[in-house]
Amino acid sequence: MAISDLQERLTDLDAFQRATGDWGIPANYIPELASIDTEQFAITVATADGQIFSAGDADTRFSVQSITKIFTLAIALGRVGDQLWNRVGREPSGRAFNSIVQLEQEREQGRPRNPFINAGAIVTTDEILSGRAPRDALAEIVQFVRTAAEDDDIHINNIVAASEIEHGHRNFALAHFLASCNNLKNPPEMTLGTYFHHCAIEMTTQQLAMAGRFLMDANCGPRLLSTARIRRLNALMLTCGHYDGSGDFAYRVGIPGKSGVGGGILAIVPGQASIAVWSPGLNRYGNSQQGTEALARLASQMNWSIF
Ligand code: DON
Repeated sequence: MAISDLQERLTDLDAFQRATGDWGIPANYIPELASIDTEQFAITVATADGQIFSAGDADTRFSVQSITKIFTLAIALGRVGDQLWNRVGREPSGRAFNSIVQLEQEREQGRPRNPFINAGAIVTTDEILSGRAPRDALAEIVQFVRTAAEDDDIHINNIVAASEIEHGHRNFALAHFLASCNNLKNPPEMTLGTYFHHCAIEMTTQQLAMAGRFLMDANCGPRLLSTARIRRLNALMLTCGHYDGSGDFAYRVGIPGKSGVGGGILAIVPGQASIAVWSPGLNRYGNSQQGTEALARLASQMNWSIF
């Protein structure tokens, strides 16, 4: 199917997904996210030739959560380059996003498997925080996202951040364990405060698809990373972007993607498209139920695959 058919495709997809009635379950460990109406769906595709197509609730802001780990990884690599890999690995974890068990294993010794599981993203955030105050680190993160999207109307929801701080026992455990292994440069509370706040950035699918354009490595939107780094980021998204559901996502969708527990997914068709999808109910891996299904259907219909 051609790009000219995309609007019709997305409109049909929106109707199809809603008709399935299979909405999944929202993240319940962040109370502020648990109360959301799950019967919502949105999709936006930004294409390499500068067009943008949407269907569903594409103007509704949602909590992007772990999707920000793409942007923080890009910033951390910009700051310290390959030195980052001394502190965090690049292997899929095969475990849930907030798993603790691997960190203590002999081979890991407090070096998280990859930058997208929580422990890895806490280390990446810690790297961005080093040498400055949380508010300055957060300003850089928000500004990076705004620049990528070419949209200044992107903000942190402080109520969601506070809700997560109050109930973030798992993440506190991970951060303190990292500190005990000398893999945090800043006090755990400071690093976590920064981490929770960048996870609480809100965007619409329109804004997120725009913010993802730099990962296409096409001549559209701002150039924020070198081609080599873009390829590597996409490789990590494919292998680690959906946690223990990454293999299934690669098998069914066939393109790099990064999910968040707010129900968003950013997926990239290199050289062709940046796709943001959102539906807040999650599947058993903690990734958007309708979002994953919609991406599988769209990629197949458009013949989009990196393979
Ligand atoms: O740290 C957390 O638990 C959340 N701020 C982010 C987790 C997340 O989005 C996992 N993604 N599927």
